[in-house]
Amino acid sequence: NVLILDFGSQYTQLIARRVRELNIFCEIFPYNHFPSDLSTYKAVILSGSPFSVRAEDAPHPDLSQIRGKMPLLAVCYGAQYLSHFCGGEVAPSDTREYGRANLSFIKSDDAFFKGVSENSQVWMSHSDTIKKLPTNGIRLASTHDVENAAYRIEGETTYAIQFHPEVYHSTDGKTMLENFLVNIAHVPQNFTPNAFVEEIVAELKQKVGDDKVVLGLSGGVDSTVAAVLLHKAIGKNLYCIFVNNGLLRKNEFESVLDQYKDMGLNVKGVDASKRFLDALAGIEEPELKRKAIGRVFIEVFDDEAHQIEDVKWLAQGTIYPDVIESVSVKGPSATIKSHHNVGGLPDYMKLKIVEPLRMLFKDEVRRVGATLGIDAALLGRHPFPGPGLSIRILGDITPEKVRILQDVDAVFIDGLKSWGLYDKVWQAGAILLPVNSVGVMGDERTYEKVVALRAVESTDGMTADWVHLPYDFLMKVSNDIINKVKGVNRVVYDISSKPPATIEWE
Ligand code: XMP
Repeated sequence: NVLILDFGSQYTQLIARRVRELNIFCEIFPYNHFPSDLSTYKAVILSGSPFSVRAEDAPHPDLSQIRGKMPLLAVCYGAQYLSHFCGGEVAPSDTREYGRANLSFIKSDDAFFKGVSENSQVWMSHSDTIKKLPTNGIRLASTHDVENAAYRIEGETTYAIQFHPEVYHSTDGKTMLENFLVNIAHVPQNFTPNAFVEEIVAELKQKVGDDKVVLGLSGGVDSTVAAVLLHKAIGKNLYCIFVNNGLLRKNEFESVLDQYKDMGLNVKGVDASKRFLDALAGIEEPELKRKAIGRVFIEVFDDEAHQIEDVKWLAQGTIYPDVIESVSVKGPSATIKSHHNVGGLPDYMKLKIVEPLRMLFKDEVRRVGATLGIDAALLGRHPFPGPGLSIRILGDITPEKVRILQDVDAVFIDGLKSWGLYDKVWQAGAILLPVNSVGVMGDERTYEKVVALRAVESTDGMTADWVHLPYDFLMKVSNDIINKVKGVNRVVYDISSKPPATIEWE
């Protein structure tokens, strides 16, 4: 188990990802709230930071329980911090030190550099530089511009590097992390999907006992994997509820419900389409749509959960990025869209919360899902927003508009699948625009709806770029949509990246 202390760097999550790729479990804690009991940790990594160590308000935590007492790897700001407070010197650098650099010297007999090539490319991102090493510091590497690119402290397993081993552009970064964690710190590599399943199932059994648990399934990867894990742990005491809000993809409610039943889950499908569409009638503003949907969802879910006698727990598919976000150094980032529309249940329900996936990243959830034998097609499904098609119908929502958009979306998504493009795209969908355009069909003038198609590549939805779908494919899909979907006479393709646009239009 590895502890990562976060000083607020944008790369901290990446460090965790890289460590876990080595099958080593790790947890991120903000530098000002780290656990008082460190006995379960085998090593500590200090992250980078946007701060300068010389600034008064910079993170300056007390590391006396860590440094020299257990293996420590300090990255970027962490390396400067150690130097600044342990007899070295940190000063503003004369040259800009951002981006690619190559190691011009490495102490190749040090275990840290085993298998690392002489000229290895590393990624720098800092404006201060370590002018003087801390007391007992031994220089381990330099680049052309950075003399103290890596050092260690004599007599300790304390290592420090100025560059970022976690980013893809540091070619041997993963090797160095492995050298440190496995060869130097001797951390066991036992965090595998199988091991996780075994451990979490035992933990869930212990935690929940014979209590009943209710869980809202959405058809997405996270809630499905959470449900299967719980099912494995407590069997029939897991009650799943799958709500049709009338804004799902075409035939999604029926087909996903069937799939869940095939998986042996005890699922109740609740068709509340009318209730949602009534609540949405006349609302045009995106945030008000989200709020209305969130509110009705809670009402419906609450009604259903009340019918389960003596239920004690609410299970949620929360994953690690949400957990980190809510405890991070910077706090939850400014709300651009209120994504977490299903904001919990009314207090009077008094359910205890269980979150089997709260320590996993998305790709780990998928791997756990595969280990559990969940169908690859289900695990590979594109993300789909909780408010569904409501935020892809710009302006007010009517049943007719939902019907049109469901049909358009189905042609597009089926097309992506049959052309073998679905898995190359991170997320795709259609948007119904609130404009009519003039067209001609046969000898008739038409005046009908315009739809936009959107397909993006991304890793986490935070940034995204539009996918260069083949022209032949776009031509075919556009033709099919206009010919098959009554009410649409024009198709456009969205070529905006995020930022500055967002993935959804609302
Ligand atoms: P944006 O539009 O912010 O979307 O670039 C990023 C990712 O989040 C999804 N999204 C939502 N998911 N409730 C959700 O559960 C929402 O209100 C919501 N809005 C956007 C979006 O589909 C994309 O995957």
